[in-house]
Amino acid sequence: MGRNDLTTIAVIGMGYVGIPVAALLADQEGVDVTGIQRRSQRSGWKIDVLNAGKSPFEGDEPGLDALIRRVVQNGSFRVSDDFSIIKDMDAVLIDVQTPTDGADHKPRYLSLKEVSRQVGTHMKKGALVVIESTVAPGTTEFVVQPILERKSGLKAGQDFYLAYSYERLMPGRLLDYIINLPRIVGGINEKSRDKAVEMYKKIVKARILPTDILTAETSKTIENAYRDVNIAFANEIAMVCESLGIDVYEVRDLINSRAERHMHMPGIGVGGHCLPKDTWLLDYGVKKYGKFPIDPEFVRLARKVNNHMPIHATEMIKDALAFMKIPLRDAKVAIFGVAYLEDSDDVRNTPAYDLIRELEAYGAEVVAHDPYVHTFPEAELSRDLEYVVKGADCIVICTKHKQYFKLNLNRLRSLMRTPIIVDGRNVLDRATTEKAGFLYKGIGKS
Ligand SMILES: NC(=O)c1ccc[n+]([C@@H]2O[C@H](COP(=O)([O-])OP(=O)(O)OC[C@H]3O[C@@H](n4cnc5c(N)ncnc54)[C@H](O)[C@@H]3O)[C@@H](O)[C@H]2O)c1
Repeated sequence: MGRNDLTTIAVIGMGYVGIPVAALLADQEGVDVTGIQRRSQRSGWKIDVLNAGKSPFEGDEPGLDALIRRVVQNGSFRVSDDFSIIKDMDAVLIDVQTPTDGADHKPRYLSLKEVSRQVGTHMKKGALVVIESTVAPGTTEFVVQPILERKSGLKAGQDFYLAYSYERLMPGRLLDYIINLPRIVGGINEKSRDKAVEMYKKIVKARILPTDILTAETSKTIENAYRDVNIAFANEIAMVCESLGIDVYEVRDLINSRAERHMHMPGIGVGGHCLPKDTWLLDYGVKKYGKFPIDPEFVRLARKVNNHMPIHATEMIKDALAFMKIPLRDAKVAIFGVAYLEDSDDVRNTPAYDLIRELEAYGAEVVAHDPYVHTFPEAELSRDLEYVVKGADCIVICTKHKQYFKLNLNRLRSLMRTPIIVDGRNVLDRATTEKAGFLYKGIGKS
């Protein structure tokens, strides 16, 4: 293979994953990084924002703004839409989205395949290619590798290195999790794996755990399915507790008082780019590439339970309004938080969307507030809390943004037509809220 000292690196896909990885690599001595981002209507604007040394994210991302400013100013990081620069790259990281289809849940690899074609067309001999996107088990070897080989005329493992390594980050902790969480690295052969390990050593302070490519891909989807299942368990138990008239958060504290018990948090629903689809990637991979038929029912059931939570919340809102003699169709509902995660601007697959759709199907008027989100076409959205609450019959807390822990309940009550709060994230406590004159209901609350 040609000389490869891993000093020129391209990162394709300037999103929640690609941006922090690219910026961290560019901050290392002697490393030069180009981000590649297509000029799509939805995401093309990020090219100019990043090249101006700014982060495109609205949520709290400790350290990221300063890091991007530094690496752009010192000339070690820039973003382009030109794939031909790959010809000079020692390493290429692929960080594009990998959604599943809403109807049949199969992976939709449009971006992954397009980018693989571009990388195959331009990469040099001896380059390292790493897939960081979450994929169904088998994808690197059976989808990406053939495209790279066909387009380049090179042989993976011999003429270029091919590896899979997943990010374990989440919005709000982007840099921290990349640097400080153990890193799983799989290669299609030993040389590929070792080359990728060498690269990650530049930015990862925690242990690097080398493995084979299929194990690395599969452990990512299992890691997220594990979390989804645990949240589903907590959600089901939240509904059990509501039915029994007890508080799931007290039950959770009691259970977790034993050190090795880790019951998760219930809530109004599960969102984000990853959890709602990674179970389906696992399901798809085992069905397509597994040696014998296996139907992973348990993880699919978890998806069903988690998807049910916004519907369950709608019933709770309807009942609370009925108690005050207001039909849902005549009510104005104020949604607090549309991001799927606290203190983030990420609205991908947010449960707020499912909730709003349900409420509107009943004929309710819905107005939403979020301090971080700019656009949310699914509902009228405002950053003015008082405007959103004015004349409302019910506040629904969908996201535990830090602002909602400091609400002036008396003021809000004075603006509302009917004082009801439905707490989907255990942000408020019953006693204080009732003292302020509200009817208080919550997911998992008595
Ligand atoms: N968001 C997370 O917290 C997280 C965590 C771990 C893993 N992942 C995985 O990482 C991958 C990326 O996720 P993300 O959240 O960063 O997605 P994202 O949507 O924020 O970013 C992907 C970027 O790739 C760009 N892109 C798509 N096709 C392109 C093309 N042909 N050429 C150039 N650019 C292109 C998009 O425009 C977008 O800017 C996914 O597979 C996801 O499952 C995400």
